[in-house]
Amino acid sequence: MSPVVVLVGPPGSGKTTIGELLAERLGVAFRDTDADVEATAGRSVSEIFTEDGEPVFRAMEERAVAAALAEHDGVLALGGGAVLSAETRRRLAGHPVVFLNVGLAEGVRRTGLSTARPLLAGVNPRATFRTLLEARLPLYREVASVEVTTDERSPDEVADSVLAGL
Ligand code: S3P
Repeated sequence: MSPVVVLVGPPGSGKTTIGELLAERLGVAFRDTDADVEATAGRSVSEIFTEDGEPVFRAMEERAVAAALAEHDGVLALGGGAVLSAETRRRLAGHPVVFLNVGLAEGVRRTGLSTARPLLAGVNPRATFRTLLEARLPLYREVASVEVTTDERSPDEVADSVLAGL
């Protein structure tokens, strides 16, 4: 078993919205590694970050991605930082991976002041988001064979582009 498509991209790029839409259109199930980690840990991502720290979350995420890649045959969305793991990047080789890209202004607007995203909950979300994008752009591009811009486009338009690129 292997996902029909794996979505990567920064927070606010629409992985969940687009992933659910794609799953509906393709008639397959949607799975999200953040939700998998939360179900396994019995705690929210924020709680794991606060109580155990980011490295513990990343280790859990790496295991969740490995399991989902092996078990899931629908649409799979990875947490925004999953590509930080070299092991995960290696595992993604051979899978149909789509990078949902979002610009700085729109990404900040979409993620807003959400406390559900511990990495963006600091004093300057815009600066944090910029640093995060700069560091991760090469990693998203390394694992993805298709890149789709989500700025100023409806979820349906983005889903069309993803399907056209597969
Ligand atoms: C993270 C993104 C989050 C979640 C965690 C860390 C990141 O997922 O995994 O808060 O490092 O970018 P989303 O991309 O679904 O928000």
